[in-house]
Amino acid sequence: MPMFEINNLSVAFNTDEGTVNAVSDLSLSIDKGRSLAIVGESGSGKSQTAFAALGLLARNGKATGSVRFDGAELLNAPLKTLNQVRSTGISMVFQDPMTSLNPFMRVSDQMAEVLIHHKGLSKKDALRQSVEMLDAVHIPDAKARLHYYPHEFSGGMRQRVMIAMSLLCKPKLLIADEPTTALDVTVQAQIMDLFGELRREFGMAVILITHDLGVVAGFCDEVLVMYGGRVMEQGPVDAMFDSPSHPYTRGLLQAIPRVDQLSPTLKTIPGSPPNLLSQPAGCPFAPRCSEVQPLCETTRPALEAFAEGRLRACTRPVLELAS
Ligand SMILES: Nc1ncnc2c1ncn2[C@@H]1O[C@H](COP(=O)(O)OP(=O)(O)O)[C@@H](O)[C@H]1O
Ligand SMILES: [Mg+2]
Repeated sequence: MPMFEINNLSVAFNTDEGTVNAVSDLSLSIDKGRSLAIVGESGSGKSQTAFAALGLLARNGKATGSVRFDGAELLNAPLKTLNQVRSTGISMVFQDPMTSLNPFMRVSDQMAEVLIHHKGLSKKDALRQSVEMLDAVHIPDAKARLHYYPHEFSGGMRQRVMIAMSLLCKPKLLIADEPTTALDVTVQAQIMDLFGELRREFGMAVILITHDLGVVAGFCDEVLVMYGGRVMEQGPVDAMFDSPSHPYTRGLLQAIPRVDQLSPTLKTIPGSPPNLLSQPAGCPFAPRCSEVQPLCETTRPALEAFAEGRLRACTRPVLELAS
């Protein structure tokens, strides 16, 4: 049994204009110490997948399917179960540290509060462990900076503080939602290195949510590519980078800047993301696909295995797609 498992998850929002199908029939699983990336353009359903799993959907949202952590069902579970999982089992970090840090409280008080509340530590022990955690995420002079307010840190350092905070209770799974998107490239790389280090050190599993396929290589074991709330391609990261099979995956790969090119020609995928209010009968990517055929407009391809450990949802023959 995998440590964390999502089966046939769908998320729909009730709006004045109709039902928004943000996530449709998504399945994934991750084991202890492994890392998986969920990649896709903005609006593809990445965050709502994580929110649904942790019971954090907006009030107009409804989730169906199953989300299991250590065998226990989380989807639509009682608040008590969710609170327990969120405090000791699964931690989530966001793009904007200010969504999880209190601007009016010193970092020392915020970190200590977590440990006193969830672990029953004394204030003294809680402060000691907080310094250790700031050290672990490489905040220089952690002992003094522990007493800073969040705004006294730079953007990259503040992101580290939030990561330290999310790791205080030693979660088995960390879900990081665009954790480096607001940071410059050098700091991004440092934060990704830090995740790798923490993975090895604490044996924690990481689900990395990102719109940037470029940050995935070298960090994740497996990738799941989403478009319009659906999984387009899924498999080991190396295989996907070597031979991307879905036209959408190929489009995303061509949009990654390459350091070995003097004047990189970045190809963005023409067109805009799908309207989730009225889903087409066929493949959601068909209107933007460079390889579209008449069948694509009428029949939605199922997500199917096409090679060892690899899945894709595309009606085009596999061989023709290899380029
Ligand atoms: N409360 C809501 N009501 C209606 N639609 C929503 C709500 N929250 C999110 N959505 C829609 O769900 C879709 C997926 O959003 P999200 O998972 O946040 O995308 P992303 O892949 O960028 O993280 C988007 O089209 C978004 O507008
Ligand atoms: Mg998001």
